[in-house]
Amino acid sequence: MKPLVYSLPQRALHWLTAALVLYSLLLPGQIERVADLLGGGKTPTPAEWTSANIHIYIGFAVLGLTLLRIVLRLVQGAPAAPVSEPAPLRVAAAATHGALYLLLLAMPAAGIAKFYFGVGLAGFIHGGPMKLALWILVGLHVAAALVHMFYWKTDIMQRMTSGRLKSAA
Ligand code: HEM
Ligand code: HEM
Repeated sequence: MKPLVYSLPQRALHWLTAALVLYSLLLPGQIERVADLLGGGKTPTPAEWTSANIHIYIGFAVLGLTLLRIVLRLVQGAPAAPVSEPAPLRVAAAATHGALYLLLLAMPAAGIAKFYFGVGLAGFIHGGPMKLALWILVGLHVAAALVHMFYWKTDIMQRMTSGRLKSAA
């Protein structure tokens, strides 16, 4: 049987990952400059290194937390889509969640390929198409959450926040 809400560890991981991903997207710092300097055989300043390292450590954290999250999801499952949600949109939600998980793994993988193995194409994809795709998916995801809350008035937000369902109150 599917659970009615996400477990507490699943919820904590969702919001922690969301915060780290949004931070990396909005404030990548000097990572691009440091990668360019190293690629050109130059030495970044300590301040540039610190800024780049923050990006790298957060990226590794996203990778680790996402792997943990996927294991938890396989073990504990996830709540079913609300019955009021039209079938095509349920498919869209499942596809969006799947694509988000894929990007949460692929984004750090491409960053690692560029930074540690000097794969230029991976760097381009990481800071270009993948970044754009992540922004679009996160935008759709947040828009869908808001439509659920305010238009369909489903319990979807409670499943990922307090864990207390309105319908069970
Ligand atoms: C970078 C930001 C975010 C990422 C990467 C992300 C990723 C995900 C993923 C992968 C799931 C599917 C969970 C599963 O079924 O295993 C999910 C669920 C969910 N997310 Fe996010 N999320 C982000 C931000 C947000 C924000 C800002 C909101 C609220 C406005 C939100 C609200 C939700 C809700 C309500 C669910 C549960 C959906 C359901 O019950 O079917 N997320 N998120
Ligand atoms: C989910 C995790 C990550 C997100 C969301 C993310 C996001 C970004 C963004 C937005 C940029 C563009 C920077 C700019 O325009 O100035 C960037 C660049 C970069 N990131 Fe990440 N990053 C993540 C993980 C990582 C990891 C784990 C590494 C390496 C260990 C890494 C290495 C790099 C490098 C080398 C660049 C410069 C790419 C280039 O232009 O050649 N990133 N990242």
